Amino acid sequence: MSKTLKNITVKISRFNPGIQKESSFASYNVPITAGMSVLDVLDYIYSNLDSSLSYYSSCHRGYDSCCLVVVNGKITRACTTPAIDDLVIEPMRNRKVLKDLVVESDINARLTKKK
Ligand code: FES
Repeated sequence: MSKTLKNITVKISRFNPGIQKESSFASYNVPITAGMSVLDVLDYIYSNLDSSLSYYSSCHRGYDSCCLVVVNGKITRACTTPAIDDLVIEPMRNRKVLKDLVVESDINARLTKKK
């Protein structure tokens, strides 16, 4: 197991449109290790702190851009962005938020229309 370098504060925009009228931030304290990505941080939170968190990932290698989020104000792939210091993670802007960091994409829109 990798040695913890330090703990960081991760603020994540949470929103469940079926229950809430607007989003709010949840804050998590996460131990980071060398080489951790923002996606690794999300995986850590989901596995250890809050399994109600919704986000999307697929290739884990930066190939398909399915993990695009806004990190500290910049659009980025969660899987290729290093987690170094405190993070504020938000869903992609100008997209309908389905839950937390999951937004409606062309793929999601097509799937929704098939139902
Ligand atoms: S998980 Fe595929 S680009 Fe990040």
